[in-house]
Amino acid sequence: MNHIQGIGMQSPYFSMAMLQLIGIIHSNFRDIFRKRKCMTEHNLGKWDHVMDGQGKTFTVNGLKVAMFSIDGELFAFEDECPHVGGSLGSGKLEGKLVACPAHGWQFDVTNGECVTLDRCDDGCFVETYPVKIENDEIILSLP
Ligand code: FES
Repeated sequence: MNHIQGIGMQSPYFSMAMLQLIGIIHSNFRDIFRKRKCMTEHNLGKWDHVMDGQGKTFTVNGLKVAMFSIDGELFAFEDECPHVGGSLGSGKLEGKLVACPAHGWQFDVTNGECVTLDRCDDGCFVETYPVKIENDEIILSLP
């Protein structure tokens, strides 16, 4: 038995831990990369059009964006599920998780991470976008 086998590399717990680690590393690099990109702000109109707990979709420069409001805070991310492209903006929100209406994979709207690890096994995610409210209007930043 070599050292790697001794720590249980074949165990499902090790695999889950590795997937979570890969996800954390991936999201940190993604955040660093995003900060270095030039972002453009887009005014999407009055923010009260996004009802608390319900999704809304926008198309901005050909990019489909899903948006949810949780307790008055907005979260925006790409509206295309990485599985086979379901519209996440049409999904049901529970807490901070939205379920894709096509096959039920769940994503954390605050960071875009897929939490359905048994199916989305490569640390998949949806791209998130900075969004804020200024003068009662939604200001979305896109790369
Ligand atoms: S398209 Fe989203 S889970 Fe299948």
